[in-house]
Amino acid sequence: MALINGNFLKLQNNYLFADIARKVAAFGQSNPNAKLIRMGIGDVTRPLPQVCIDAMHKAVNDLADSTTLHGYGPEQGYDFLRELIVKYDFNARGVDISADEVFVSDGAKSDTANIVDIFSDNIKIAITDPVYPVYVDSNVIEGRTGVYDGTYWSNITYLPCNSENGFVPSLPRDKVDLIYLCFPNNPTGTVLTKEQLKVWVDYALEHDSIILFDAAYEAFIREEGIPHSIYEIEGAKRCAVEFRSFSKTAGFTGVRCGYTVVPRELTGTTPSGERVHLNPMWNRRQTTKFNGASYITQRGAAAIYSPEGQRQVKEIIDYYLHNAATIRTTLTKMGYTLCGGVSAPYIWVRTPEGMSSWDFFDHLLNDLHIVGTPGVGFGPEGEGYFRLSSFNSHENTREAMERIRNKR
Ligand code: MLT
Repeated sequence: MALINGNFLKLQNNYLFADIARKVAAFGQSNPNAKLIRMGIGDVTRPLPQVCIDAMHKAVNDLADSTTLHGYGPEQGYDFLRELIVKYDFNARGVDISADEVFVSDGAKSDTANIVDIFSDNIKIAITDPVYPVYVDSNVIEGRTGVYDGTYWSNITYLPCNSENGFVPSLPRDKVDLIYLCFPNNPTGTVLTKEQLKVWVDYALEHDSIILFDAAYEAFIREEGIPHSIYEIEGAKRCAVEFRSFSKTAGFTGVRCGYTVVPRELTGTTPSGERVHLNPMWNRRQTTKFNGASYITQRGAAAIYSPEGQRQVKEIIDYYLHNAATIRTTLTKMGYTLCGGVSAPYIWVRTPEGMSSWDFFDHLLNDLHIVGTPGVGFGPEGEGYFRLSSFNSHENTREAMERIRNKR
């Protein structure tokens, strides 16, 4: 008998963005002439930086010739990319990371989900609430989250992020083993200062916990004093794994490329209390279950580290941040309460007149033909909030704001 992993049946709903996509598709079928403006899933709309396109074209040509052909690549990523990552994303910020601590992958979503493979089922995890749903669902699938009471999982420690605490999570009261932090934050668009992040690193060091730090939106940081990497905080290499993505940085949502840093000194413990290094464990996991991101993809990613690549990436992110500013300014003038959108592509908006997140979603979709993401889809603290993303054109963003202003 092929017994299934029954934990899948515990997943409460469909994956949030799949659910929204289905609703939007149904709306599109019954309203074929409606001009929808999509501000839901954080999917890019600007073309990829030209340097990436050129590098990928060249990489395709490499594959057309047996002398420059690339077959299976290293599971950890090509050295040409790992070395650039180390130099520009870390060394340039005074962080000492080496290439063998960097694992190139097909994106931060899979890595943040797959990392659970190397931890025991018997650990206590903490997540912020609201949170990127992948962190919760990947632990549900592993059977680590306990019983669901319709709102909360019994074996998850929730760290509420709300208007009372300025969307900055407080330390858990009970000891936790694994802590998910995402900054700049998805979905609230908020950031942590060095001092605020240090509080978490100190907690993790004191309690022998590990922080899973998702920095997928790092390229959007525009404010001074905001750490771009958790390793800018002293001691973090002993307590944190960091995830990065080229999706939003270089428009790779469809190309797929990201990387994970597992420092050599980072350890966990066996049930008998021995220390085990996580870097070789993750390496073992990847070499068994992953065959590396494609050569073409990695050549494309490497291209962003040239001076011209950096300029082009900045131009694209500035474009999206301009939209974020348009959204912030318009909605603030209209009296909405919101946060985010300064060093992040997401704006977290309080729904008007106490509407529920899904009611507001339906109103925007059906009446104004705008797609956003209901806050409650990210967790119970997200009820009464709505996430707008800035990944659209200037024209569509302005038009969406116009529709909201004129309620048509
Ligand atoms: C989001 O909209 O939250 C992200 O685009 C989802 C993702 O990166 O997987």
